[in-house]
Amino acid sequence: MANSHSSIVIAAGLSGVVSAINNGLAITPPMGWNNWNAFGCDVSENLLLSTSQQILSLGLRDLGYNYVVLDDCWQDPRGRDQNGKLQPEASKFPSGLKSISDHLHRQGFKYGMYSSAGEMTCARFAEGSLDHEVDDANSFAEWGVDMLKYDSCYHMGRVGTPTASFNRFKAMSDALKSTGRNILLNLCNWGEDLVHTWGMSISNSWRITGDIYDSFTRPDDLCGCNTLSPGDVNCVAPGTHCSVLFILNKVAPFADRSIPGGWSDLDMLEVGQGGMTDEEYKAHFALWAALKSPLFLGNDLRSVSASALTILNNPAIIALSQDPHGRSVTRVQRDVVGVPKDNWGVGETHVWSGYLHNGDQVVILLNAGDEDMQMSVSLAEIFVAFGPGGSAPHVKSDWALHDLWAHRMSDATAEALLAAKTEGERSRLLKKANWYNATEIPYAQGLANDDPRLFGEKVGVVEAGGVMKVDVKRHAAKVLRLRRVKKEGESFKAKGIAREERHERDEL
Ligand code: GAL
Repeated sequence: MANSHSSIVIAAGLSGVVSAINNGLAITPPMGWNNWNAFGCDVSENLLLSTSQQILSLGLRDLGYNYVVLDDCWQDPRGRDQNGKLQPEASKFPSGLKSISDHLHRQGFKYGMYSSAGEMTCARFAEGSLDHEVDDANSFAEWGVDMLKYDSCYHMGRVGTPTASFNRFKAMSDALKSTGRNILLNLCNWGEDLVHTWGMSISNSWRITGDIYDSFTRPDDLCGCNTLSPGDVNCVAPGTHCSVLFILNKVAPFADRSIPGGWSDLDMLEVGQGGMTDEEYKAHFALWAALKSPLFLGNDLRSVSASALTILNNPAIIALSQDPHGRSVTRVQRDVVGVPKDNWGVGETHVWSGYLHNGDQVVILLNAGDEDMQMSVSLAEIFVAFGPGGSAPHVKSDWALHDLWAHRMSDATAEALLAAKTEGERSRLLKKANWYNATEIPYAQGLANDDPRLFGEKVGVVEAGGVMKVDVKRHAAKVLRLRRVKKEGESFKAKGIAREERHERDEL
């Protein structure tokens, strides 16, 4: 499997990477905002448009958050119109959906909507799209929709084998394709029927767990597999209360399945919702970025705090998500620490490591235990994907460690930005702070140019063959970008090595 993905990427070269669904979309993980985590069913035209204005003027669209997605509960509760067409509830969307998409498009956004591959939506709105795929895909295309989040509730029993689920979702994938409008498809069947083995053939991303909730580690029976069979990819009891740690443990065995054009979806972000500490939110955000999950903001941006904003607008972290190499970090170390509580998943540390396009390596040391601690990991483990037991040639180099949170926007700047009364004032503040703008300089270009805004701050060096030792607070993660230290007179050769590495990695 890894081989066939890799050879596809190599064959396509660096420009125009080919993906399995091959619709040219989501070549890097999609980014945007979705109303569900903060608002549930409380949706309206006003919510979407006031939020899109905030995303724009806080500089978040220009960091890459360019999809605005309307989740469940938009439908007229009476169901379809006389012609069998889905219709929005007029009191929530008085100008109609096409007018919303036109507005978003004028602002430089893409417009996302929601339906379910069942007889009803998950919030029990009258009509799902099961057996109405062609009609509904046409409606979405007419409304100017650019992305469909396609849920799995009320599936009429058409579930239980990969084939049953694949066929049910493929019907919508085909229908969208035949509209002639290129619409990104996000499957939401919570990991059922081994979606990580077939999602990439028909969609651009696929959810792998039940719904996230605003907790870092707390196990909850409503996220079924917490207490049943942890880590078992076949254990699916989707539920609604999945912690950040639960989701990480769930994706770990198949983190490598994400490819350009098709990504495992770890669910929308909880940053800014209030249930986690600042360190927990930083860890949640960085891991979602490095694991190449779609990055959908899930908080109310009209009342965002400075601390949440300065997590979400860190370009050095977003650059991990948007790195042209397009592969997730994988877990190279997991330890259970202290006295684990009776529920699995509490009291553990992880080290995640992954190759980046320019030859750097990202390493994330996660301490999900209850005490601050010193964590350590050897270069041999960090580069295990290139050869186990220290055989990777990388282990012979010295590596500089760059802390990717070092240049987080200051609270003072964020507070001024949030308090600014006009768009002009906000844009002046962003310019003054020299904040990254990916509309002007795409991440691939910024990375190729060694734009300092994407590389954090050098905080140390690990010598060849060495072990990295890092203090990590409880419920926090250190996010380091390792950059090969060039020996004197080696600069040309080092570039050559980087190219070879890319090749080696792609052939794994
Ligand atoms: C769930 C889905 C959530 C949200 C909700 C809407 O199945 O996982 O993300 O879309 O339905 O009812």
